[in-house]
Amino acid sequence: MLIKKPVITIALSLFFGAALPAAAAGSGASLQAAHNDVSNVASLQRGARNYVNYCLGCHSAKYVRYNRLAKDLGLSEDQVMRNLMFTGERPHDTMSVAMRPDDAAHWFGRTPPDLSLIARSRGADFLYTFLKSFYLDPTRPTGVNNTVLPGASMPHVLWELQGYQKAVYKGESDAEHNAVHKEFAGFELVQKGSLTPQEYDLFVRDTVNFLDYIGEPMQLKRQSLGLKVLGFLAIFFLLAYFLKKEYWKDVK
Ligand code: HEC
Repeated sequence: MLIKKPVITIALSLFFGAALPAAAAGSGASLQAAHNDVSNVASLQRGARNYVNYCLGCHSAKYVRYNRLAKDLGLSEDQVMRNLMFTGERPHDTMSVAMRPDDAAHWFGRTPPDLSLIARSRGADFLYTFLKSFYLDPTRPTGVNNTVLPGASMPHVLWELQGYQKAVYKGESDAEHNAVHKEFAGFELVQKGSLTPQEYDLFVRDTVNFLDYIGEPMQLKRQSLGLKVLGFLAIFFLLAYFLKKEYWKDVK
């Protein structure tokens, strides 16, 4: 009995010790939590609409089929055709872009990546923060830069909604060495967009939610299946426990 406790302590610390670095890994800039919920179908529907209207022009989602979307998002194929498909695709087509990769590379300096799996490689918090972190920077060809992906060649495609913000730094300039010691302090909206900051956060959250869902469409099923399995195990445990008690009651 005595050796058991340290074993449990070691097992627990290994478990949490392994989980911590994973949570801390990522970009140097601090990320905001996306707080998205892939089981929220209304949010996924809005996210799909946002994606088609604001992202699909440049970014394909080549592992996503429209008819699968219809099924998972609780839409009829007809609704999907009318609201999400504008360029004559058919329901079993995947979400591709019309732009040729060579042209894209020529225009932007880099081909916009396919976003099917981006939520899995970057994480929802990165995407959420990324879409909120474009700021004015006249030295960039696009006129904007991004704090979590410095030097990004993506233009601020959501500027009409968010407006334009500038990055505010705190710190002092060191004239003698012609250097500035500055630290990023936050953003300041310098030109209003059509959405309020709160509405823009919601817009971004829905979009990220959609990206999270397409990164692993099965996760909706996996989670509900997982709960059922756990429920089954709990009931089974009780059954087994009482059965064991019954069998052993005469053996002391
Ligand atoms: C006008 C074309 C264009 C549109 C529209 C556009 N993007 Fe991009 N995006 C780009 C380009 C170009 C890059 C490559 C940036 C780089 O790596 O320098 C990029 C990169 C990204 C990345 C970073 C990928 C990485 O390396 O981690 C994400 C995430 C992203 N886009 C999301 C979106 C989302 C979400 C939308 C819709 C709201 C969107 N983009 C709309 C052109 C576009």
